[in-house]
Amino acid sequence: MDWPGLRMCPTRGFSELDLDFCLATEEDFEEVQSLSNDERHYMPSIYHSWLRERNRVVVLAKRHCGVVGMSSAHIVNDGQTALMEGLQVAASERGKGLARLIHKHILERVRARYPEVKSQCYLTQHEYFKGFCVLSKQCMIFLRFPSINVPALISEAIGNMRKSGDEYYEAISLQPDDVRSIFLNRTVIDTMLPGGRIIQRGSVFKPLESNLDILLKRDIVWRADRMGNTGAVSVGTAPYRDPVGNCVFIIDMFGKDLPAVKSVFLSQLQSLSHLQGDVTCRLSVNPSLSSQMWEFCTKKMGLEKGKQNLKNSYVIEGGIFQTIARL
Ligand SMILES: CC(C)(COP(=O)(O)OP(=O)(O)OC[C@H]1O[C@@H](n2cnc3c(N)ncnc32)[C@H](O)[C@@H]1OP(=O)(O)O)[C@@H](O)C(=O)NCCC(=O)NCCS
Repeated sequence: MDWPGLRMCPTRGFSELDLDFCLATEEDFEEVQSLSNDERHYMPSIYHSWLRERNRVVVLAKRHCGVVGMSSAHIVNDGQTALMEGLQVAASERGKGLARLIHKHILERVRARYPEVKSQCYLTQHEYFKGFCVLSKQCMIFLRFPSINVPALISEAIGNMRKSGDEYYEAISLQPDDVRSIFLNRTVIDTMLPGGRIIQRGSVFKPLESNLDILLKRDIVWRADRMGNTGAVSVGTAPYRDPVGNCVFIIDMFGKDLPAVKSVFLSQLQSLSHLQGDVTCRLSVNPSLSSQMWEFCTKKMGLEKGKQNLKNSYVIEGGIFQTIARL
């Protein structure tokens, strides 16, 4: 029998009483880093800047004084939305309901500190959306670069596209004013951005001046096929080293025009041509292009399969009060 207010969950190990929640500090870094030691997670590369960022809360869950989980809420969209990022639970503690408790705790903190925030939003790979509205779907393609000369690989791909008569655009590098003019353009928002949102390495933003100010401070490579009548735009997050020293490049691509998307992707790769060693790439594209882009990358360019082939990721949004009540 379920008593009102009492969550009976025999298969879920943890309750709030087992955990201490606290704000993250610089001193916690090593323990936080060990949470993601087995994954190519970007979090250790941005942990310190997150602690300094305005309007961001970073929370740790501790048990017996050791860090077992973390999450962060960034207040975006002109102060209206809590963008949930960086949720992680220690590998040994997964499947016991810990993420749910951390999620609930951080939402309660957001509600107390930013009472004007009514909704939360996050990117997830789980196809379970109870109580959420699904804003959009992107497809992630995981790739590894063979250990050969990357610039040569790109020139060959461009040469082959031209030879076979495929359209190829010399993509342009966007300056801050170009970024504003493209991402605030109504047609781009309605026809190219997934669910009308900009996605960058797991962050989700409405195309607003205030959000572009946040994004323009980040180390990002901005590319488009052209300024007028734009067919593809992309946001390449500066490569980071994962905990085992591999270089990871995340490219978020918007638009459904295949030749334009291919051209802009190649231009993003050109920006990292100086990189050596083991490089992996996580490319996210409109789902309608996923199989053609997969084929282009693996068959035409000779890139190798990453940790998985293709995976969908969803942007979901929901009310904070409703979620706290459900969790
Ligand atoms: C995903 C992960 C955090 C789940 O941890 P867990 O303790 O085993 O999970 P639980 O059984 O408590 O998980 C589910 C709860 O997590 C929360 N949750 C799941 N994904 C979330 C996300 N991306 N952001 C915020 N909260 C999320 C929800 O509250 C969910 O509850 P619900 O299913 O009732 O809605 C864990 O497997 C992990 O650390 N994976 C590696 C990192 C990762 O993939 N993080 C997710 C996206 S950044």
